[in-house]
Amino acid sequence: MNIDIFTLFPEWFEWFASQRHVSNVVSAGARLQCVNPREYTPLSGGQVDDTPFGGGAGMVLRVDVLESALRGHYGVDPVLLRTRRRVIALAPSGRVLDESLVQELAGEPALTLLCGRYEGFDERILEHFASDVVSIGRYVLSGGELAAMVVCDAVLRKLPGALGHERSASEESFSAALEGNPEYPHYTRPAEYRGWRVPEVLLSGHHERIGDWRRERSRERGEHRRDARSR
Ligand SMILES: C[S@@+](CC[C@H](N)C(=O)[O-])C[C@H]1O[C@@H](n2cnc3c(N)ncnc32)[C@H](O)[C@@H]1O
Repeated sequence: MNIDIFTLFPEWFEWFASQRHVSNVVSAGARLQCVNPREYTPLSGGQVDDTPFGGGAGMVLRVDVLESALRGHYGVDPVLLRTRRRVIALAPSGRVLDESLVQELAGEPALTLLCGRYEGFDERILEHFASDVVSIGRYVLSGGELAAMVVCDAVLRKLPGALGHERSASEESFSAALEGNPEYPHYTRPAEYRGWRVPEVLLSGHHERIGDWRRERSRERGEHRRDARSR
């Protein structure tokens, strides 16, 4: 998996790339690279954005600058690029990231993530250069960097070698192993704390009963979530 992140703030990703699960997948062959559109801008003074036509506050990322960065990095017209790899613009209005989209993206050989800033992208970037527009939720962040990290984190932890224990990823919230339900509750020592007892079944050593109990709790949580959504 190769992930290229187009961002005006590449230094944000230095900390992210140094985290264990990310460095694990990088050691296993994945690649995470930042590209700063400012380094490719054809405009003077490193300009990347401009005031919106029609007026209004804020600055808009220019389509010519993004074209120059994508073309400069990949050596291909970005209109063609999006037919060859997923080019994902991060925007509050996009398709909301969920487990099925994460699974889908984790199966791709390469991703390009475009981080907006200020007022966001000139719409022509979304229309002509992006294959997908993805949101991490219905709220507004100051920039696409944190959203890109959320996408990378969720996708990279699906890859072999990311986590110490492979089972942690196969049987977790929303996985097929749990029929798409949230994960069951976990407990650790002490078995009793302030009178709060860990469920007896988990102390029984009876793996089949523990498995049944966990699946049941997971189903309950799923139903609870569906009920809450339908209210
Ligand atoms: C301040 S926001 C722009 C908000 C835009 N004017 C609007 O009202 O939809 C700047 C950038 O942050 C990123 N961003 C903000 N919230 C996001 C979210 N919920 N999901 C994904 N990206 C987001 C996008 O890349 C966006 O272009």
